[in-house]
Amino acid sequence: MTELSKIGVIGAGTMGSGIAQVFAVAGHHVLMQDLSEPALDRARRSMETSLQRLVKKGSLTEPQAAAAMARVSSTTVFDLLDDRDIVIEAIIERLDVKAEVIRKLDGICRHDAIFASNTSSISLTELAAASAHPGRVIGMHFFNPVPVMQLVEIIRALQTTDAVAEAVTDLTRAIGKTPRVSKDSYGFIVNRLLAPQINEAINCVYEGLATPEDIDSMMKLGANHPMGPLALGDLIGLDVVLNIMETLYQGFDDPKYRPSPLLKQMVAAGYLGRKSGKGFADYP
Ligand code: CAA
Repeated sequence: MTELSKIGVIGAGTMGSGIAQVFAVAGHHVLMQDLSEPALDRARRSMETSLQRLVKKGSLTEPQAAAAMARVSSTTVFDLLDDRDIVIEAIIERLDVKAEVIRKLDGICRHDAIFASNTSSISLTELAAASAHPGRVIGMHFFNPVPVMQLVEIIRALQTTDAVAEAVTDLTRAIGKTPRVSKDSYGFIVNRLLAPQINEAINCVYEGLATPEDIDSMMKLGANHPMGPLALGDLIGLDVVLNIMETLYQGFDDPKYRPSPLLKQMVAAGYLGRKSGKGFADYP
């Protein structure tokens, strides 16, 4: 398989910009594509802020941070992704939209280019079925905040070839992350364990058992979690948590995964956590 040096990232949100950043820091040239020019500008600013944090704590020098920024280019033009060795998509969690992106990539990229999805809940096997070359589709699931979290969960679709899985596992190591492979299943591994815990914490708030602050502090002090489940839900985005719970609930057809009524209300109210300024805490 060709060396994976030219990286494409589709979607300039929190995850897309974090993914572009870690590849650029590791020395790869990254082309970040998004439909919106302002989103691309925001992504560059958030990369700069994140790189400055890394400089401040001594894990990067100022010239290394500047060189990383210089390796990231951005565009609104989809067809410029045509020369990429691997394209990672981090766009809206909708199968139809992601499948359309895969079909468009099929039309412009080399036949041996790899298509990875950062989806947190969509079936990779269904996504791969959208491609004329389904063996090249794989899940590469990063965690928020991407520059800090060690794991990349690699999810093999039923169709993913061994060569593609190996290449993506090697690439993950090459950017300093730790790959762990999972088969395709609802919520994969991490979200199958993590989302129900956040959902259950929301049920505790719904039942009026304790305040959100106290529930979070109990899990920090009693279970040694770096942040409480409600703060984590706010970080991930409550809409994303609801999406994952609905995938688990419908996929396994098991009431233990039923989304909390309060989670549904929070999302309906637009209280999505950090990104909307309000969730279980306020983010001015
Ligand atoms: N860029 C660069 N560095 C960052 C950063 C960013 N965006 N965010 C945090 N950091 C660094 C800080 O500089 C700091 O570095 P040092 O400790 O070396 O000084 C370190 O990370 C810790 O940050 P803070 O001191 O600001 O805050 P903290 O100690 O409370 O840690 C945290 C913040 C890293 C987010 C920590 O609370 C944590 O690990 N929380 C759990 C996060 C988690 O579980 N994420 C997975 C979510 S699930 C998901 O993403 C997948 C999905 O599909 C839903």
